[in-house]
Amino acid sequence: PLVSTGELVSAAVAEGRGVAAFNVITLEHAEAIAAGAEQAGAPAILQISENAVTFHGGRLSAVAAAAAAVARASSARLSLHLDHVVSADLLRAADGEGFSSVMFDASKLPYDENVKATADAVRWGHERGIWIEAELGKVGGKEGEAPLDAHTPGVRTDPSEAAAYVAATGVDALAVAVGSSHAMTERTAALDHTLISALRATVPVPLVLHGSSGVPDAEVRKAVTSGMTKINVGTALNTAFTGAVRTFLDANPQAVDPRKYLVPARTAMAGTVAGFLGLM
Ligand code: G3H
Ligand code: ZN
Repeated sequence: PLVSTGELVSAAVAEGRGVAAFNVITLEHAEAIAAGAEQAGAPAILQISENAVTFHGGRLSAVAAAAAAVARASSARLSLHLDHVVSADLLRAADGEGFSSVMFDASKLPYDENVKATADAVRWGHERGIWIEAELGKVGGKEGEAPLDAHTPGVRTDPSEAAAYVAATGVDALAVAVGSSHAMTERTAALDHTLISALRATVPVPLVLHGSSGVPDAEVRKAVTSGMTKINVGTALNTAFTGAVRTFLDANPQAVDPRKYLVPARTAMAGTVAGFLGLM
């Protein structure tokens, strides 16, 4: 069924677990997330990023309706989240499309402007029962950005600034920079667990780990144990998808029907989803 992100995250916090959120690009991604969640017997969040909406020609309703329909038809508890929203227009378009949460990403703005824009987004969301996530600090490697060295001082989230930011904006969850970076295709990121514990002790809302595709299993586990709740995974699904397509086409160069290679691609993504859910 389609449930709300707020209830999945609150339940995870209450039970000391994590809840994984997976990025949807194609219909097969959504189907694979549902299948992986059913296999693992765990809930999951389907998230659609602003970049994915742009990829689909800006047709938010089409992508959201497809993902919401997959969630409603599943036996797993799944919610729909709009991810990395920079555009205020896209934020407003989320209302009524099945989204129970939005990550409003003003992390590129200077601190004061980030606070103001995010507080506005929170006010808008809470009037409509929409849960709002924001980011403080810089998780590097976003689309169109030069890769950022995750270990550069200053890109990490400062715990006391994070607490002040949450108080000033009223956000429901906070994405923090603790050593992960977006779009990693190898799982080699080392997380700052001392910082995670400090943030957990200082910040009164659930913490979100972005760029989890590059984080090894043991580090994901440890991050959940030390207090990260929402674990965002995107690239790992694409690695599985593309690897399966490549293998199939190498072995079957005469193939034409996309279903022939999308079946193994979807199966591979479902396995990746189930693997991450097993760490929660
Ligand atoms: O918001 C989405 C996530 O941070 C995904 O990052 O593609 O590096 O796993 P990833
Ligand atoms: Zn992210």
